[in-house]
Amino acid sequence: MVNKISRIGVFTSGGDAPGMNAAIRAVVRACAYYKKECFGIMRGYEGMIDGDIVKLGARSVGNILQRGGTILKTARSEEFKTTEGREKAYNNLQKEGINALIAIGGDGTFTGLHKLYEQFQLPSICIPGTIDNDLAGTDYTIGYDTATNIAVEAIDRIRDTALSHNRLFFIEVMGRNSGYIAINSGIAGGAAAIIIPEENITFDQLYSVLGEGGKTSKSSNLIVVAEGSKIGDAHSLAKQVAARSNYFDIKVTVLGHLQRGGSPTYFDRVLASRMGVAAVEGLLEGHSDVMVGVNDKKMVYNRFDDIMSKHHAIDSEALRIAKILSI
Ligand code: F6P
Repeated sequence: MVNKISRIGVFTSGGDAPGMNAAIRAVVRACAYYKKECFGIMRGYEGMIDGDIVKLGARSVGNILQRGGTILKTARSEEFKTTEGREKAYNNLQKEGINALIAIGGDGTFTGLHKLYEQFQLPSICIPGTIDNDLAGTDYTIGYDTATNIAVEAIDRIRDTALSHNRLFFIEVMGRNSGYIAINSGIAGGAAAIIIPEENITFDQLYSVLGEGGKTSKSSNLIVVAEGSKIGDAHSLAKQVAARSNYFDIKVTVLGHLQRGGSPTYFDRVLASRMGVAAVEGLLEGHSDVMVGVNDKKMVYNRFDDIMSKHHAIDSEALRIAKILSI
């Protein structure tokens, strides 16, 4: 292994995701294992600009594996988007002798890291941490499994009350421009229709699925709507249905940030642990300007330019299954 790297900085940035703490722990402990010093940068790029940096050792990350959120806090930084902001951040890293970085976050985080790399050639690796599962180059991002399980649990609960009242529910899930949480929580929760940005569906097509006037034998319906829906969010779809007919008793539930909190699933803990170790080992092997990913169970390193212009496509099989089962 190449050994010019002696001090590694780790931070979380963008929206928090369950499993980020497990990834921080894995990075810190892998650093200790390989006899490298590790520093936590607080509040993502904001803390880097402010010089808010703390030393981390193997024992400082005890009892965090199972906790949601991020002990390093997180933020979205406008200043880091500027050349001057990145220069301030880089100077603070230099003061601490930090000569490599590991960022945990989504596409905005990886973009920031790439910009810093372009400006200063600082060795750096990104770990994909976002509930959205919207990054190409990895089958899964940290937090996605937990968020989807939370959405499924919520859908199950809503189903009980929907059935009791013969109601039509629109349930909106997060995911930004990605339909991953929606498609899989919709299949797992038995949704009558799933509206995702990746699939073209018209309002008329959606309306025909609802079965007005007992056209289907369903007494209630659950429609899962991804927040990135192109035909309107859950509230607007509910309004459109109500405007067309008073047949349905309609309710809307927007799950929102509920999906981002709580203890990570075993899947996210293991994924985060593997990715954290792979990030440290990747740096020591000389990888840089890459994102760790998992493809068909194997750890991979993807270059920024190879994945950032691509959309993480939804498996066409998932779409097919959702259609067959919602009949
Ligand atoms: O990227 C994670 C995510 O939760 C998205 O699903 C959502 O669109 C966004 O962050 C919400 O951002 P904020 O927490 O800043 O409201």
